[in-house]
Amino acid sequence: MVRNMEPDFENRIIATEYSAQDEPTELSLRPRAFAEYIGQSKVKDNLAVYIQAAKERGESLDHVLLYGPPGLGKTTLAGIIANEMGVHFRVTSGPAIEKQGDLAALLTNLGEGDVLFIDEIHRLQRSVEEILYPAMEDGALDIIIGKGPSARSIRLDLPHFTLVGATTRAGQLSAPLRDRFGVILRLELYSPKDLARIVTRSAGILDIAVTPEGAMELASRSRGTPRIANRLLRRARDFAQVLNSEQGNAAATCEITRESANNALTRLEIDHMGLDNIDRMLLRSMVDSFNGGPVGLETIAAAIGEEAVTIEDVYEPYLMQLGFLQRTPRGRCVSPAGYRHLGLTPPGQQTFDNV
Ligand SMILES: Nc1ncnc2c1ncn2[C@@H]1O[C@H](COP(=O)(O)OP(=O)(O)O)[C@@H](O)[C@H]1O
Ligand SMILES: [Mg+2]
Repeated sequence: MVRNMEPDFENRIIATEYSAQDEPTELSLRPRAFAEYIGQSKVKDNLAVYIQAAKERGESLDHVLLYGPPGLGKTTLAGIIANEMGVHFRVTSGPAIEKQGDLAALLTNLGEGDVLFIDEIHRLQRSVEEILYPAMEDGALDIIIGKGPSARSIRLDLPHFTLVGATTRAGQLSAPLRDRFGVILRLELYSPKDLARIVTRSAGILDIAVTPEGAMELASRSRGTPRIANRLLRRARDFAQVLNSEQGNAAATCEITRESANNALTRLEIDHMGLDNIDRMLLRSMVDSFNGGPVGLETIAAAIGEEAVTIEDVYEPYLMQLGFLQRTPRGRCVSPAGYRHLGLTPPGQQTFDNV
């Protein structure tokens, strides 16, 4: 029953990963300075202090590891760090660095003080990581020349640089790599209030009219994630515009109100808590097939046909934040609140209610 619902993972509107539909606006919406970066005040305040201190000493910033679910602003923050330090921003990612030589080339081309950003740093190969250790620690590159018994190692000095790593899974980073970061910061899901500010800011940049109530409606259904908030804003504009022209008004006069936002979100099958079909299917299959848990991650993954890592990185954080899902040592459980959200009575509650 659960199976033939045929979830559309590829086009999931509330997918937190970057997707092609974000492309035209992603760049213009991305904050470039701390002043434009909304929320995450703890992370921002700490970073601002470290940056100021490093600048006052005329040094490069310590290596920074940013972690947290996708779409929360890790790449954005890395760019801001480079901007605020007034240095170049070089971007790569764990899977893009295939050989030791690739990383060596990147490192030797850095300018003094530059920021090297490695996205998905947990996906670096071990052999590549080994090049990174002396680079991070001593600012040196160890190169092996020759093969076999006559091989020898020479050491090259690198410019001072700041490595900024981003990952959705800090737990998967090897201990030696994690230990070489002086600053480790975790990004949290955003509050609806902060997301409403982000929606309003983005609407201003994209020239979209949105009322404060409309912004709040989109914000509270964006699962704590700026990338989703921006995406919903664009979809809500489409619906508002079409509705508007059906009523014979000019496109320019359309405005996103609470009502039109709600209309758009309903059409996108995003419920009032921000869950989509796949979230509900995940909870539903745990209830129907596993009595609400505890059930292991791999088993859930097989049941709904999604990868375990995706469930862990993308679906669970928000379901857990809402308190619909709990992680226990024996597996995942649907909470009473999760049952009620599906319109079901939590187990054990029936007898209780009848007392
Ligand atoms: N704090 C923020 N304030 C305003 N917009 C943000 C913020 N964080 C993220 N965004 C928006 O969300 C989008 C996705 O952020 P990004 O840095 O790519 O996330 P991540 O790298 O964590 O997946 C950005 O393009 C930006 O428009
Ligand atoms: Mg990113």
